[in-house]
Amino acid sequence: MYLFRLTYYSRNVIKSLDSSVGKEIKAILDASSRNNPPAGITGALIFNDQYFAQVLEGDRKSVTSTFTRIARDPRHSDIVILHARPIDMRAHDGWAMAYCGHSEIVDPLYLKYGTAIGFNPAKMTAENLEAFIGDLVKTEARVASSSPLEPAGPRIPAYTRV
Ligand SMILES: Cc1cc2nc3c(=O)[nH]c(=O)nc-3n(C[C@H](O)[C@H](O)[C@H](O)COP(=O)(O)O)c2cc1C
Repeated sequence: MYLFRLTYYSRNVIKSLDSSVGKEIKAILDASSRNNPPAGITGALIFNDQYFAQVLEGDRKSVTSTFTRIARDPRHSDIVILHARPIDMRAHDGWAMAYCGHSEIVDPLYLKYGTAIGFNPAKMTAENLEAFIGDLVKTEARVASSSPLEPAGPRIPAYTRV
């Protein structure tokens, strides 16, 4: 296996497609939970009402085919790839999804990574965005799914606020 990591952000256009945002987010969560663990994909997807940002890690063929599928999805647009490179080891041991809104836990992270309060990946470096995603899912994983590295099943019970 040739390990690879791809990091991107995109514009969330779910609002303009469907007023039931929660239904669409749930559909993305369900597809990711179904497809990522068997494909050996780890990483995280974070989102707010304006942006998505995602880290995909795994075998380079799996990362490429997963990203190619995601890139065609009409629920987002204006994809910007920040990093796509071979890696020695994964930074994520499972697949997780988190909403980045405001809370006592999350607001200090915005300050730590130099953005104003509020998530705006367009104003972050690739390194900061990857570190922010890692910190966010550790502290604030509102939705998490299983890990291909832990066959026993979900690490954190699936939970969604949307
Ligand atoms: C921002 C965003 C991130 C997504 N991330 C994933 C993902 O990590 N894995 C995945 O399988 N699908 C993801 N999807 C959904 C895919 O675009 C696609 O709808 C889904 O993979 C189709 O799965 P299916 O063929 O099992 O129905 C994402 C969609 C969006 C808009």
